[in-house]
Order: sequence, then C-alpha cells, then structure tokens
Amino acid sequence: MTRSLRARLFIGLTAIILLAGCVGGVFAYIWAFDEAIEMQDSILIQLGSLLQNGSVKSEQSLRGVDADAQVDVVELGTAPRGSAEERQLWSFQDGLHLASRQGGSMRVLLRTRPDGSRFAVAQRTAIRDEIARNMALRTLLPIAALIPCLLLVTALVIARSLRPMVRLAEDLDARRADDTTPLPLAGTPSELHAFIASMNGLLERMTLMMDQQRRFVADAAHELRTPITALSLQAENLAPVDLPAEARERLAALSEGMRRTKHLLEQLLALARHEAGPCSEAAVVPLDRTVKDLVADLLPDAARKGIDLGFEMIEPVATRGEPVMIAAMIRNLIDNAVRFTPRGGRVDIGVYREGNDAIIQIEDTGPGIPSGDIDRIFEPFFRGSRPSEEGTGLGLSIVKRTVDRLEGSVLLKNISGAEQTGLRATVRLPAADESRV
Ligand SMILES: Nc1ncnc2c1ncn2[C@@H]1O[C@H](COP(=O)(O)OP(=O)(O)OP(=O)(O)O)[C@@H](O)[C@H]1O
Ligand SMILES: [Mg+2]
Repeated sequence: MTRSLRARLFIGLTAIILLAGCVGGVFAYIWAFDEAIEMQDSILIQLGSLLQNGSVKSEQSLRGVDADAQVDVVELGTAPRGSAEERQLWSFQDGLHLASRQGGSMRVLLRTRPDGSRFAVAQRTAIRDEIARNMALRTLLPIAALIPCLLLVTALVIARSLRPMVRLAEDLDARRADDTTPLPLAGTPSELHAFIASMNGLLERMTLMMDQQRRFVADAAHELRTPITALSLQAENLAPVDLPAEARERLAALSEGMRRTKHLLEQLLALARHEAGPCSEAAVVPLDRTVKDLVADLLPDAARKGIDLGFEMIEPVATRGEPVMIAAMIRNLIDNAVRFTPRGGRVDIGVYREGNDAIIQIEDTGPGIPSGDIDRIFEPFFRGSRPSEEGTGLGLSIVKRTVDRLEGSVLLKNISGAEQTGLRATVRLPAADESRV
C-alpha cells in the first residue's frame, strides 16, 4: 500500500467512482434497453391500429415511413392460405407474438379487420434489438463523460484539502535552523491541531535545550579567556629572557597557538552574545566612525601583506544596535578581506546611505568564494572547500546573526572581472537618524 495519503485517497475514491459508474451504467443500460423494446412494441400496435381502420393502406407506404425499422405487413386474407409460415401466423390470436419467419425470429402483431380479413405486422427481433442497443448505449454517454470529470474534481478536492499540510511542511522547510517560533494554529484544519500542538511542544523543548547549550558555550568561552590571557602574558614575559634559539622557536609556536585560541574564544563569545536574549544596549552607532576605527586597527596587518586597504566612499551614517556586536561584525568582514586577499592586493571599503538603509560595502581582490560553498558559508565552523588561511569558520556566522538581529541583510557576491577576481560583501542595515540620539 502506498504511503502517500494523497495517492491513497485518490485510489480509494477512484475505485468508488468507477464501481458506482459501472453499476449505474449496467442498470441504466438494462432499463433503457427494456424501455426501447417496449417502445417498439407500442409502435407496432399503433401501426396495427392505423392499418386496421384503413388510415394506411399498403406495405410499401409503411416502408417509406422508416426504412431502417423494416416493418413488414403480411395480408393473411379471411381464411388460412398460402405458405406454411402464413398459415402459422393465421393460427395466432390477435395481439403480439414471437414467431419465426424467413429463417429469423420476428415480433408479430396480429389484427382482424371488421370485414374478417386478418393481417400481421412483423419486425425482425435482431433489428429491434439493435435499435434498442443503440438507444441504450446512448444513455451511457453522460455517465462515461461524467466519470473523468468526477476524477478531476476529486483530484482537485484532495489537493486542496491537503494543502494546509503541504504549506506547514514548506513553512518548516523555509525556517532558519535556529528559528523555534511556534507554528500558527490559525488557518489550519482542526485535524492538524493535535499534530501542530505536539510540534510546538517539541520546538519549545528545543528552545530550552538550545538556550542551555548556548549558555554553556558562552560560560565556557568566558571562563577560558582568563587563563589563556594569563598564559599569553607569561609567554610575553619570556620575550626579554635570553633563550637558546630552539627554545625561542618553540616559544614562538606556543605564542601563536595561544593567539589562535584567544581568537577562537573571542569569536565564540561574539557568537554566544547574540543568543543571550534581546538587545541589551541598543544605541545609535555611527557606522563611519566605527569603520574608520576598525580600519586603523587592521592597517598594520594589511601593510604587512602589502595590501592597499582604504576607503572608496565614506559618508556619515548610523544604525541602531549594540556597538560591540556591530564592530565585531564589520571587523570580521574586513579581516576576511585582508586575510584572503593575496599579497599586493586591494581592499576598498564604502560606507554610505541609500534611502532608508545604511550600507557597508567591502570589496577585495582575493579569490572569492567557490559557488558551491556560498550556500553553507554562514554556517558556524564552515571554512569553505579550500580553506587556505587559518581561521575558525565562525566569522561569517557572527556577521549573519548580527545583521539578522538588526533586521538587515548581508550579501556576498563574487566579482569576476577580465583581469581580476574578488569578493564584494554588502551589509544593509536600517539607517538611524543621528539627530535623534
Ligand atoms: N573575502 C573572502 N575571500 C575569499 N574567501 C573568503 C572571504 N571571506 C570568507 N571566505 C571564506 O569563507 C570561510 C569562512 O569565513 P569565516 O569568516 O566565517 O571564517 P574564517 O575567516 O575561516 O575564521 P575567522 O573569521 O574566525 O577567523 C573562510 O574560511 C574562507 O574560505
Ligand atoms: Mg573570518
């Protein structure tokens, strides 16, 4: 048995429709056939009456009326005479009979005129049956035409009835993985309410579990930050100490490892901060100033790689949100541009206003993101299919969560010009009016 409810309903209803159609058709056929035979009998009787009272005279004129009906009039005279068949006809009483004549079965009507002469009106049963069959078959036409229409209507009704379920599934499919808002009951059929209630219960439990997990990550990152900072300080304190070359090499590796761990903890904390409930310190953040500060911070990194990091366009524009988060978000984008752009490249930054949106655009001359990676690039810990530089894979998830929280958007687009490639990251945030600070 098929698992699809739609297919099951359709097969079941189709079987019922076909069965009803067949049973109805058989009964309609039998009934129409009998009616047609009776009608032909009454035509014979009417003809007999016409011939009896002399309104119609000869056999020929009868033939002229309806050649297909092939009605014969046999004059039998006033006494038995002629062939054996005619004598047999004579032996019948007045009325309708079945007789065999000229090798076939016939329906005959015998009548006696007032002057005593008798005649028979005869018609082949084969012809009568054929006429009746044709008439009966014609009554089947509407039923035959109705069945496909009914099947079509059934399919439409089923599809329509199941649409709320399909819509529910689409709704769930389209959700972000961390979206646990309850499913709405409004507009859904009552049969689905129990299912939706169970789903909402599950979503609620998931929210609780995710909250616990986030709190755990945030707490763990926070707790680890202090010892790592202390360790980094200890390592720094070793710098002025006179050490053998091999020890110095190991110390450098140790410091680098600690720097990376610190970066991971910072990124984890930045990510966990988003989940910690509603915006706590929403303020008007001047984006131009924030970006300028970040660029000043990252200039040494860029200079070390010989990358020309600069502004293409910078306008005073602000948005509303948490300054630390917004700075972490922009920092991650500029950091990516600088890190993934090869030596001697260029990173251009634009900060401007477009209608009611504040735009931050960062364009680099790096390799861009492979098109196969674009769909997953915002997932935490995803570092692309060809991770070249070190990294945690958390940067872009921080960016995505920040813009989602600020009801903005981020778009990553590969630039593929004739002689150079690159990535253009465009962040769009609702602009805030600075005058209303
Ligand atoms: N400007 C860019 N040019 C080319 N590839 C990029 C660019 N920005 C990001 N990517 C790719 O996307 C991946 C994910 O970036 P993301 O910022 O999330 O993590 P990361 O940079 O590896 O780690 P982190 O940001 O924590 O240092 C990167 O590893 C890189 O492969
Ligand atoms: Mg990054």
